[in-house]
Order: sequence, then C-alpha cells, then structure tokens
Amino acid sequence: MFSNRIKWDLQTNRLAQLIEQKRLSGAQLLDLTESNPTRAGFIYPAEIAGSLSNESSMIYEPAPRGLKVAREAVTGYYRSRGKEVDPEHIHITASTSEAYAYLFKLLADQGDTILVPQPSYPLFDFLASLEGVNLRQYELHYIHPGGHPGGHPGGHPGGWRIDFDSLEKSLTANTRAIILVSPNNPTGSFIKSDELSRLNEICSERSIALIVDEVFSDYACGHDERRVGSLAGNREALTFVMSGFSKILAMPQMKLGWIVTSGPGRLCQAALERLDLIADTFLSVGAPVQHAAPEWMKMRGYIQEQIIERITGNLRSLEELTANTPCRLLNTEGGWYAIVEIPRHFSEEEWVLKFLSEDDVLIHPGYFFDFQREAHLIFSLLPKEEIFREAVRRVLGRFK
Ligand SMILES: Cc1ncc(COP(=O)(O)O)c(C=O)c1O
Repeated sequence: MFSNRIKWDLQTNRLAQLIEQKRLSGAQLLDLTESNPTRAGFIYPAEIAGSLSNESSMIYEPAPRGLKVAREAVTGYYRSRGKEVDPEHIHITASTSEAYAYLFKLLADQGDTILVPQPSYPLFDFLASLEGVNLRQYELHYIHPGGHPGGHPGGHPGGWRIDFDSLEKSLTANTRAIILVSPNNPTGSFIKSDELSRLNEICSERSIALIVDEVFSDYACGHDERRVGSLAGNREALTFVMSGFSKILAMPQMKLGWIVTSGPGRLCQAALERLDLIADTFLSVGAPVQHAAPEWMKMRGYIQEQIIERITGNLRSLEELTANTPCRLLNTEGGWYAIVEIPRHFSEEEWVLKFLSEDDVLIHPGYFFDFQREAHLIFSLLPKEEIFREAVRRVLGRFK
C-alpha cells in the first residue's frame, strides 16, 4: 500500500517510552536536548510580527528564485560577512530541509549516492530516503589537543578533520554530491582551507557537487585562520550553500531558507535553470515572510548576541564541571552543541536511560548522530544557564 521511501520502524524506542512515562508521572525533566531556540528564553524584538503585515504581500508574484526583496536581504547578509553574492544565484526555500530535498532532486536519480559526514545531523537518512537516494558516510576523526603533532608547531590544536581515506573509499561511479556541514552538528567543526582545496579537486575531477550546510556559521568560537567562513561563491566545483532563518535568526517557525549556487560558468547556469523548474513546481515560501526578510535581518545582531552569550556561558560551565572527572569535553569550534566523551562502564543507551530514570535529565547519546564508537553525550548549549548547570552537575556527578 505504501511506498518504500517510508521504510522506518515506527515503534517508539526505549528512550521515547521512558520520556513519555516520566512526563505522565509529572516529573520535572531537565532537558539537555533542547534545541528549539523559541523555547529557550531568548528575547525577540516586538516588531517581528509587525513586519509580517506588509501590504505588498497581498500581491501574488510567482517567482521560482523567490522575491527580489528576500534575495537582496540574503545578499546583504553575505555582504556583511565579506562575500559578494549575485541575487540571481539565490533560491529562497521554506527551510534548509526543503533545500536538501530540491538539491537531491536536482542531482541524483533513484539509487544514486550522496556522501554525508559521520558523525553528523540525523535528518539526512530521512531526507535521502524520501528522495530515493542512497547515502554513504565519510568519517570525521577527532584529534585530541596536543596529540598527533602532524608537524604542527607546539603540538596539534586538536579538533575534527575529514578523513580523506574514508571519503575516497566511499566514492563510487554513482556519487553525485558530497555534503559538508560547516560548522557541523554536533561536532562544531568548520571546513578548513586545505580540506576545501582537496574537496574541490575531487569534485571537479569526478563531476561531483558540493552541498554545504552553513546554518550555524554565525556561531563560531574564537578565530582560526584555517577555517573557511563560507563556501558561498566557491567556483572550483559546482557548489550549493544553504542557510536560513531557523538558526541565523533563531526563528525556525518563520520558514525561510535559501540556496546560493556557484561553480564553473555553464555548469552553474545549468544548475540554476534546473533549480528554477523544481522551485516553480512548489513555490512554497509565503509572501509575508519574504517581504519581512530585510527588516528581520536587521535584528540578527540582537538575537545572536543573546545566543552567543548563552552558549559561551554554558560551555564554560561544562569545562568547569568536566575538570577532575574522567570525562573529556571535546574541542568545539562553533554551533549550538558540545560533546563529552564518558567512560564506557555502560553502553550509551544504558547511560542515557539511567540519567533519565534516576536523575530526571534528558540527554542525547552519540549514536543518535552516528558516532563510530561509544561513549559520547551530546549537550545542547541552548538551555537556560541555571537549568544547564544543574543538569550537567547531575550527569557528571556520577563520574566523580
Ligand atoms: C545542520 C542542520 N541543518 C539544518 C537544520 C534545520 O534547518 P531548517 O529548519 O532550515 O530546515 C538543522 C536543525 O537542527 C541542522 O542542525
């Protein structure tokens, strides 16, 4: 009766069952998985709703790339980050998820393959399956600070790097694209310029596209010259950079994202024309949101400052509370998450069930994000400071 695209086990897992039981029993859970910014106590400017009542929204203008006013707001965003982007190279979408769906339709036939980083964002399996596309993983490996010098003066700064051996082993004749998430969820790692050079070579030699998810790129920790701030405008390979309001304005409910297309001349043009056809079939973004985009973009600093302050404070708490425990906080370069490696007395699943049943703390295990080995915990850095600190104290208190 139903298509094989919906092939998932619809049974609730043990963690979901326990959450339900806990909630029914009235337990006050401390939620370290909370990544919905609209529930994290940030203050949004009161004018946001007012910007939606623009009279121009009463005119229906079916534009596959999106309304010019919204595309110009996006070019303004890149300009403020030192990048010139042609508004004709932008497609406005309802979300990054929709952008992925458009790009999978554009690039891959049924059964073709797209490469995704491991560990990374758990939604890829669903997005690919719904488009009939296969995923293969390439590994990111973690180097502990100071370890594995690799010629770096004063020891290696540590962090996540692409394992190119594993990436090249995953390539096949049917590989159509490589997905990069920069900074990645949950590792927080940015693409580095040497990695980009190598990716450009691989992609141009084999006619593979780069799909780059930069939703968290405004949330960088510190500065590192090796990082590529944005791949928007990358010309060496056909490149699609995606972002949107769900993270840069912390407003996922407003449903506005985009794709910036670049690459070698004719190829880039051909991709833009084909994306027009896909987008024209759906025309999914509402006019009020597009007209509001320039006003909302101006509120970016106000919203992001609060988030950065929260993330920085929570990261500091995590550093402090992991000290003198056998747990290790992994180096993060940005994004909304932190990873702690914990002892493997129990499996990740046993640990997270224990935290929930005995400590009333909800936290994601590494396997949700496809870590290659156990045991890791993924902390959302968005919860309010006092909730975060108490939850971390309960979790890490077990390892004292
Ligand atoms: C890496 C990454 N990309 C995209 C999204 C979702 O973005 P959107 O709401 O625009 O679909 C998320 C949400 O957590 C994410 O972590």
